[in-house]
Amino acid sequence: MKRVMLSTGGGDCPGLNAVIRAFVKHANQSGKWEVLGCYQSFNGLLMEPTKLIPLTPASVSGIHVRGGTIIGTTNKGGPFAWPVKRFDGTWETIDRSDEMVKKCEILGIEAVVSIGGDGSQRISMALYEKGLPIIGIPKTIDNDLAATDMTFGFQTAVQIATDAVDKLVTTAASHNRVLILEVMGRDAGWIALNSAIAGGAEVCLIPEIPYDVNIINIVINERISRGKNFAVIVISEGAKPKDGCVSQIINDEIGYENVRLSGAAVRLKEELKIAGCQLDIRETVLGHLQRGGIPLAFDRIISAQFGTKAFELVENGQFGNMVAYRYPNIVSVPLKEVISKMNFVDPNCNLVETARGIGICMGDSSIY
Ligand code: F6P
Repeated sequence: MKRVMLSTGGGDCPGLNAVIRAFVKHANQSGKWEVLGCYQSFNGLLMEPTKLIPLTPASVSGIHVRGGTIIGTTNKGGPFAWPVKRFDGTWETIDRSDEMVKKCEILGIEAVVSIGGDGSQRISMALYEKGLPIIGIPKTIDNDLAATDMTFGFQTAVQIATDAVDKLVTTAASHNRVLILEVMGRDAGWIALNSAIAGGAEVCLIPEIPYDVNIINIVINERISRGKNFAVIVISEGAKPKDGCVSQIINDEIGYENVRLSGAAVRLKEELKIAGCQLDIRETVLGHLQRGGIPLAFDRIISAQFGTKAFELVENGQFGNMVAYRYPNIVSVPLKEVISKMNFVDPNCNLVETARGIGICMGDSSIY
């Protein structure tokens, strides 16, 4: 039997288990591959003792409907930046990537499948350059990978955000309030844009279009003059005011890779008050609710397709590639290409035009 190792890296995402299940089913049907899940991204391989989880048809049975990942994930540490405590109590990170590649060889792992977003695929590429036979599968609720038309998990996150907008509209109208919904999206505003259109928000603020709070206030005042004494604003966590920067907090988690975004909605509330907004304002931060729970049918299906294609690439030895969705096909794209470009919202794209066309203020203009 040959050995293939699966890992899930970065923030979790609805559909991870559906990918794992599809891959394991194919591997089992082939009769040639044994599948091991690496605990918490690649960390399990570097832990003492090594933490690899055997994945069998029995252990993945029925998991396609479950959120999270049965093999665990993390956005801390990793083979290139493993946190180590110094004698004085401070931390440093060390490169254990060579050790990881060696360990794979010793364990007879002939293929590695890395399910993750941009950060994870950067690691995949670097490991591939070190000789590891690796394949990527695109994961992120943010949908910010340019190589694929869509990542799995995104549609589920959009639905969760849309449900939240629907709920906020009724309470905003009942109380004559401005309600701000903060959604995920560090650099790309796809979740905010899609849920604002689907839910019928009045304002949508995304990282790609810096906002002017006075314009938002004008829009709210225009609504009030038309007898509509409420508004719902959807804001990406990575949105920023004109000439301003993202709202972030200091992160004290050892080995955490990202800037910790926080406070975009609260900041906007304060800015609106200063701008003279006449209505009461409240904020809701949707946070990790967007990443949990049952994946929508679309995400389960695309996850099954990704798992299927990844196994095909493993069988054919087509390493150094990531599977990708290019409607209506599932294709493979070189990892080098994957990490070279992100998928940001083009301020002139059809979806932004659509938003403006149906009267959503994007924070840069009150004329739409
Ligand atoms: O990358 C996906 C994402 O959901 C981002 O939108 C968000 O900023 C980040 O993960 C938060 O991750 P965590 O809270 O797990 O550190």
